[in-house]
Amino acid sequence: MSSIIWSHGKTWIDVRSYAKKILKEFGYGKVKIMGQSLLDSANQLVDGIKMELLDSTDGFFSVESHKFSIHVMNVLWSLVGGYKFDSNDILLKRNMECVDKAFDIIGHRNLYNMFPFLKNWFPKQVNYPQHLELHREIHDFTKILINDARERRSQRLDSDPISFIEEFLDKIEEHEQDTKTIFTQEQLEIILEDLFFGGLETTGTFLTWSILYLVQNLDVQTKFRKEVLAKMKDRTDLLQTIDLKKIPYVKATVLEILRMGNVVPTPLPRCATQDIEIKEFTIPKGTILFYNLHALYNDKKYWNDPETFMPERFIDEKGEIDAIKSERILSTVFGMGPRVCFGEAVAIDSLFMFLAALILNFKFEIIPGCEPSAKDPVCGLCVCPRKFKVKVSSV
Ligand code: HEM
Repeated sequence: MSSIIWSHGKTWIDVRSYAKKILKEFGYGKVKIMGQSLLDSANQLVDGIKMELLDSTDGFFSVESHKFSIHVMNVLWSLVGGYKFDSNDILLKRNMECVDKAFDIIGHRNLYNMFPFLKNWFPKQVNYPQHLELHREIHDFTKILINDARERRSQRLDSDPISFIEEFLDKIEEHEQDTKTIFTQEQLEIILEDLFFGGLETTGTFLTWSILYLVQNLDVQTKFRKEVLAKMKDRTDLLQTIDLKKIPYVKATVLEILRMGNVVPTPLPRCATQDIEIKEFTIPKGTILFYNLHALYNDKKYWNDPETFMPERFIDEKGEIDAIKSERILSTVFGMGPRVCFGEAVAIDSLFMFLAALILNFKFEIIPGCEPSAKDPVCGLCVCPRKFKVKVSSV
């Protein structure tokens, strides 16, 4: 069986391209379907925060990436499962916890991330047994989802599949006799697991960084809100991601958050498939290679004063987005080459939609004495600020 994230070669190509193809059939990447789904999920996030604030006497809100992740995941899940998760779903919450912990174990602080053979030599020291146990739980969760989908399908009168999972289940039946097929229950479980791994942490982490930088830079928050409102005829207008991307200051803010709050600073490893000569170095075939986006995003050769949060750096003298600087981020932040982020199309639109929905509905401010810090973040595969509290008021 082949995973999208953790494998390579022909089966990786087959599984990845097949998964993409079916998702597209159910609307992945289609502006109308995705746009509506994004808007619904963003509104659910806003309602969730409003509910939380009703229970709070001081208007304080604890910023944690998982509070955002579920709503982002739901955009994709409406195509994968054919429905949206309830944000209070206990099993889903436990699954998110497991994904968090598994990321933490295989994250940058664990030597086993760089030297996988350590899991055989010192399993306990690199938390390998705990890692396996978390994977088993995540795997069991995907089994439950598939069984649910099977059940729902059998109860429906019409026979056309309504989701990625149902379509895959049909293929499993069709290929029952084929011993070399990728259409097996186990393969489906692994794909779902990949989507949870890839989709849960990332966008939630981006939104956590967003709030951190926007409370530290209230002027940016105010200008962002003003620019979006200026494009809407009135406040009841629907947000549209295409329009948001066309507002230079909004795009510049998203780019600057992606640059400074670099969600995945060292993307997935590569393996040299042949000996490579670069300048005076020889990289032998079989070497595991990492690339470092943090270095690229903070290189003084490309960025003036890289440690300062400054969306204006992406705006040229005509008031337009500087295409070269924008490309420097957008062509790298989701990875590079054939392995580029599987969820890129949904992720990029989510960043604009969710951020705009938050800023249009709330003002986020620092609580004196509780200033959040970008220093000492949690370093799993994603790099995320530690939990912090902010004051939130409706606007
Ligand atoms: C802010 C949002 C996101 C960022 C910054 C991000 C970033 C990345 C990066 C840097 C990679 C590694 C690419 C490489 O090694 O070249 C990756 C891979 C991947 N991402 Fe994302 N991602 C995001 C959202 C998502 C979402 C919403 C999904 C849901 C489907 C997803 C699914 C995946 C998968 C499955 C892979 C592995 C692809 C493969 O190895 O073939 N990502 N992502």
